[in-house]
Amino acid sequence: MAMAVNAQSPGKLDLWPTYVTLRGRRPARFGRPMPVCPLCEASYPAGVRFCGVDGQALGKISETIDKLIGSRLGDAYELTVQVGRGAFGAVYAARHVQTPGEFAVKLLRSGTQAAPEQVARFRREVSILAKVISPHVVPIVQYGHDAGKGYYLVMPLLSGENLAERLARKGPLPLPELSKMVDHVTAALQCAHQAGVIHRDIKPENIYLHTSDDGQITVKLLDFGLAKLLRPPQGDQGPSEDLQTGPTQVLGSPSTMSPEQVLSQPVDARSDLYSFGVVLFEALTGQLPFDAESAVQLMRKQVYDPPPRPSEDCPWLSEDLEKIVLDLLAKRPSLRPQSAEELRQTWQAALPMGLEKWRRHQLHRSPTVVTGLDKPPK
Ligand SMILES: Nc1ncnc2c1ncn2[C@@H]1O[C@H](COP(=O)(O)OP(=O)(O)O)[C@@H](O)[C@H]1O
Ligand SMILES: [Mg+2]
Repeated sequence: MAMAVNAQSPGKLDLWPTYVTLRGRRPARFGRPMPVCPLCEASYPAGVRFCGVDGQALGKISETIDKLIGSRLGDAYELTVQVGRGAFGAVYAARHVQTPGEFAVKLLRSGTQAAPEQVARFRREVSILAKVISPHVVPIVQYGHDAGKGYYLVMPLLSGENLAERLARKGPLPLPELSKMVDHVTAALQCAHQAGVIHRDIKPENIYLHTSDDGQITVKLLDFGLAKLLRPPQGDQGPSEDLQTGPTQVLGSPSTMSPEQVLSQPVDARSDLYSFGVVLFEALTGQLPFDAESAVQLMRKQVYDPPPRPSEDCPWLSEDLEKIVLDLLAKRPSLRPQSAEELRQTWQAALPMGLEKWRRHQLHRSPTVVTGLDKPPK
C-alpha cells in the first residue's frame, strides 16, 4: 500500500492514513477486526470511528467490501471471493464465463469515480507490466473498464499468501525460505531494472509466496502501480515517466522508503535495493528497522538514523549475511550493492556459512531440523 506525502508541507499527508502503512517494531497485526471506511476502504486500528481521509463513519469489513462478490465484470468475469486489498485496489478471484481456470481481478478502488492520478497509476501499471517479463512477476492477462465498476486488470490467480501475511502468521522466515525469496526477488528486480523500471514500493505486501499444484513455492513481485520508467523504451520517442510527473510528490510506503525517496531525489535501482533491505530485516527479525509514532518521523529516521543490527533479534545470523542487510540499508546509494545481480551473488557467496550457523542453531533449539518450505494452510 502506498501513500503520497505533500513534500511542500511534509507534515501533511495527502492521501492515505498513516495507520494503513505504518508497521512499527512491535507490529500489532492480530487482534480485533479492523474497521474500514465504506467510501475509500482504508482500514484503521480497532477503536477508531471515523475515516481520517473523508470523515465517513467506519464499518466492519464484511459490511463494506463484499458487495461485489457474485457480480460480473465486463460481462465475462464472475467475482467469487476477495483475495487481497491494497490502498489502490481490491483483488478478487474470478471465473471467466468461457475460459476454464481461475483468474485474479484487481479493481481500482474508487470504481467509476477514479481520480485522474489513480487512473494514471492504473495505466502505468498496465504498460510497465507489459515490459517486465519474468517468472517472478505476475503478467497481465487483460485489462479494461467496466461501466458499473470501473478500471480493472486481470492476472493469473496466485495461491498462497503475501509475505506480510506469512510473517504475521508464523514470524521470521527460516533461512532456506528466506534465501529462496532473495533469489526470486532479485531475479524479478534485475529483470525490471534492465527494462529501465524502478518498482518504488518494495514491501512485504507486494511480495507473494505462490504455491503451485506440485507444492513448490515460487516468489512473485506484485504491484507495479508506483513503478517508474527511467527512460523511454528503445525506439519510443515518448517522454519518460519523470517528465510526466512533477517532483513535488513523495511516493512510497514510509516503513520501506529509501532516503532518496523521502527526500524527493532521483531514484534508481539502488532505491529498490534499500527497500528490499528493510524487507530482509523484517523477514529475519520480525521487526522493522525503524519505529515511529508518525509517517513523518519514520521517514526522518530512514534518512538520518543508523539501523540497529539485525543479529540483535536474530541470533543465528552470520556476520556476512548481516553485513549484506546493513549494506542494503546504507543511506548513500553508492555504499549499497549496486545491482540486484550483485546482491544475489554476494548473498550466494555468504550462504553456505550462514546455513551452517542457522542449522547449528536449529539443532540446539530442537532435535528436528526444519528443511522444507512452509506452506499456508488451505
Ligand atoms: N494475482 C494475484 N493472485 C492472488 N492474490 C493477489 C494477486 N495480486 C494481488 N494479490 C493480493 O492482493 C493484495 C493487493 O494487491 P496489489 O497489487 O498490491 O494492490 P494495491 O496496488 O492496491 O496495493 C496483495 O498484497 C496480494 O495479497
Ligand atoms: Mg500493493
